[in-house]
Amino acid sequence: MPIKSVSSETIGEAAEILKSGGLVGMPTETVYGLAANALDGAAVAKIFEAKGRPSFNPLIIHVRDIESAGAYVEITEAARVAAHHFWPGPLTLILQRKAGCPISELASAGLDTLAIRVPSHPVAQELLKTCKLPLAAPSANKSGSLSPTTPAHVHDSLGDKVDLILAAGACDVGLESTVLDLSGDKPVILRPGAVTAEDLSAALGVSVEYEQGDSDAPKSPGMLLKHYAPNASVRINAIDVKEGEALLAFGADKFMVAGDFPGDMRRNLSKGQDLHEAAANLFAMLKELDKSGVSAIAVMAIPENGIGAAINDRLKRAAQKD
Ligand code: TXA
Ligand code: MG
Repeated sequence: MPIKSVSSETIGEAAEILKSGGLVGMPTETVYGLAANALDGAAVAKIFEAKGRPSFNPLIIHVRDIESAGAYVEITEAARVAAHHFWPGPLTLILQRKAGCPISELASAGLDTLAIRVPSHPVAQELLKTCKLPLAAPSANKSGSLSPTTPAHVHDSLGDKVDLILAAGACDVGLESTVLDLSGDKPVILRPGAVTAEDLSAALGVSVEYEQGDSDAPKSPGMLLKHYAPNASVRINAIDVKEGEALLAFGADKFMVAGDFPGDMRRNLSKGQDLHEAAANLFAMLKELDKSGVSAIAVMAIPENGIGAAINDRLKRAAQKD
């Protein structure tokens, strides 16, 4: 069993694994990442192999701070402002690679831009400090399935393909980072997350919007529509529960179903309608309901404001038919 609780010894062990080209399940504030040395193409290749991920899909590079980021990408004025406001934290910036940037071409799928972020999770920070490497880390799950928010999710999805999983409990945010493209003429959100369009517009002093893109050729290649999918089909904006469905509620759910509805087929993202609590619970609850073997999950409507936009983005993808 490669799951170990966090200590200075296990962080040291994880750093050695990374230096010798292995894979580590790394807690971050968003979701668990599957980390490898981003300078080592063979180590990065193991990530794609473990995830069963199409190799044209570029990865996010995790670094300690903006100074470390500056070794690999061109830090523009907008990048400096965004980093000042939101790093360390759940924001990924797409920036031009620097000439001679040593990050593996495979990690960025041959693009001349790089996705980079500074995670705020203390264990991720400690690991980056100890191994002194930039870490390529996609979410630590099989490609196309729900992102992991607990060490057990990582193990269930990837098993022994990971050399070590650093177990640090459930992730605070629960949704992948916001991806902000700063490589073009104007800033564009490629993936919504906990840092919202309103937050970014206020910080950058310009209107920043989510650009959904074309699902066949998305600008952010990881944003293929059919992504984040449980096995059960997902029905969004549900106002009732049909025969054989499980229920994922938000807020009051008493009126929704009869009292004898089995508990293992019912979860509530946030009884108090707290959107951050709902985001943190989303993937874990979808997985739990999926495990009960139901063929469909009815999900109540989630308000579109703040992080609700990111929750709805993930739900729409989960609801997408092949
Ligand atoms: O919260 C997160 O960001 C997690 C944790 C582990 O940090 N990581 C994560 O990585 O979600 P991943 O690989 O699952 O998602 C990377 C996203 C994809 O949508 C990918 O297409 C996009 O970032 N991306 C990466 N490089 C890009 C680039 N150069 N241009 C545009 N999009 C890029
Ligand atoms: Mg992912």
